Amino acid sequence: MEVIEVSHPLKDHYLTILRNKNTNFEAFRNYSSKLSYILFLEASKNISLKDIEIETPLTKTIGYEIENENVAVAVLRAGLGLADGIKELLPNTSFGYIGVQRNEETANPEYYYENLPELKNKNVFILEPMLATGGSLSFAIDKVKEYHPKNIFALTVICAPEGINKLKEKHPDITLITASIDEKLNENWYIVPGLGDMGDRLFGTV
Ligand code: URA
Repeated sequence: MEVIEVSHPLKDHYLTILRNKNTNFEAFRNYSSKLSYILFLEASKNISLKDIEIETPLTKTIGYEIENENVAVAVLRAGLGLADGIKELLPNTSFGYIGVQRNEETANPEYYYENLPELKNKNVFILEPMLATGGSLSFAIDKVKEYHPKNIFALTVICAPEGINKLKEKHPDITLITASIDEKLNENWYIVPGLGDMGDRLFGTV
């Protein structure tokens, strides 16, 4: 599995705002959105292009367009916080949703919703900001693989080493993009130092 930890001063700046417990949810949403552009730029770096012939006002020339169609799959609800980057940078991307929630007692993923567009032979960008134990993301990847996409890219904000190890074992064929690989999980399966509960902070439910 390819793991890309994005390196960019703006990423560090935005992530610090997200980590800070004094950041209110309006700012949190805003800076998640900004970070999503950086994550998507990195994730889309190696998608394949095909040549197309176009005419400029002066002459014919060869340009490029993206070879395969693109789909974003947001894992509810925190994944919605990373939707802006792909929506704005590739406006013809279709969107799917997967509802997986963590059982707070066992940390096991529980599936509750699925609404996916056609995924066969597409570039699929799964949006799941916090890779803690890896249970939810691994589950979402299993679901997406049932539909035979061309590539799978997982966009995350923060990963714990435990989650990365799980994904490496179960899904060595995907690309993982993250803004940070943090230290560890605590006894409640929260990432440390982390940023707390991404969904709660995005939607103001704390
Ligand atoms: N989900 C979150 O929102 N935060 C964590 O730290 C772990 C899982």
